[in-house]
Amino acid sequence: MALLEVRDLVVAYGKIKAVKGISFDVDEGQVVCLIGTNGAGKTTTLRTISGLLRPAQGSITFDGTSLTSVPAHKIVSLGMAHSPEGRRIFPRMSVEENLMLGAYSRKDKEFKADLDEVFDLFPILADRRAQAAGTFSGGEQQMLAMGRAMMSRPRLLLLDEPSMGLSPLMMKKIMSTVTALRERGTTILLVEQNAQAALKLADVGYVLEVGKIVLSGTGRELLTSDEVRKAYLGED
Ligand SMILES: Nc1ncnc2c1ncn2[C@@H]1O[C@H](COP(=O)(O)OP(=O)(O)OP(=O)(O)O)[C@@H](O)[C@H]1O
Ligand SMILES: [Mg+2]
Repeated sequence: MALLEVRDLVVAYGKIKAVKGISFDVDEGQVVCLIGTNGAGKTTTLRTISGLLRPAQGSITFDGTSLTSVPAHKIVSLGMAHSPEGRRIFPRMSVEENLMLGAYSRKDKEFKADLDEVFDLFPILADRRAQAAGTFSGGEQQMLAMGRAMMSRPRLLLLDEPSMGLSPLMMKKIMSTVTALRERGTTILLVEQNAQAALKLADVGYVLEVGKIVLSGTGRELLTSDEVRKAYLGED
């Protein structure tokens, strides 16, 4: 059984279907990526998995539990965290306060060890822990959003376009953090428009086009596939 199983998922906004019957698995310990152009349905898929949107049809199973009628905050308690598109940090709150919000669902009191782990991954967050988060650069805000998601100690981390708007150097840093998180035992579902960066580190990838999965394979297979090279990597 995979950690996450998505089956025949349909998600609609009113009458318009944004996701048109997709199925995929995320196995424990893997990095799985969903790639696709603007409007393909990537964010809609992630928001439905984390309970922010409800499926019109199909099923989502996390660690054997059907999520169909589980509210979003309970899904966090089950061990899933979502670092959303656009980061959504709280600009007036300090870095540390933003991080602590990620731990709100926790019943244990071991935040300190997790805060230390986040600070270990992103030392800049430790150095600036009292700074208002809104003064951070885009890349720093991305680190904060990922750190906040890690504070719930997730088994599965959903990352929506972590490289968006970042310099190549910062993008590298964020992508190497994805690998570091996987090495620490977190399973990751990564959504990216930057197909090359995502496929390089993904165990498995799925290509989404207007709400449908049109191609899947290992990261390496997709990186070298003619279709992906033409459509997503800008090669002739
Ligand atoms: N709240 C909404 N109401 C109506 N339509 C929406 C809403 N959110 C998204 N859509 C539509 O659903 C489709 C899928 O959008 P989605 O945000 O999932 O795409 P995406 O793959 O994440 O794109 P991007 O790479 O630009 O972030 C698009 O056609 C979009 O216009
Ligand atoms: Mg999106």
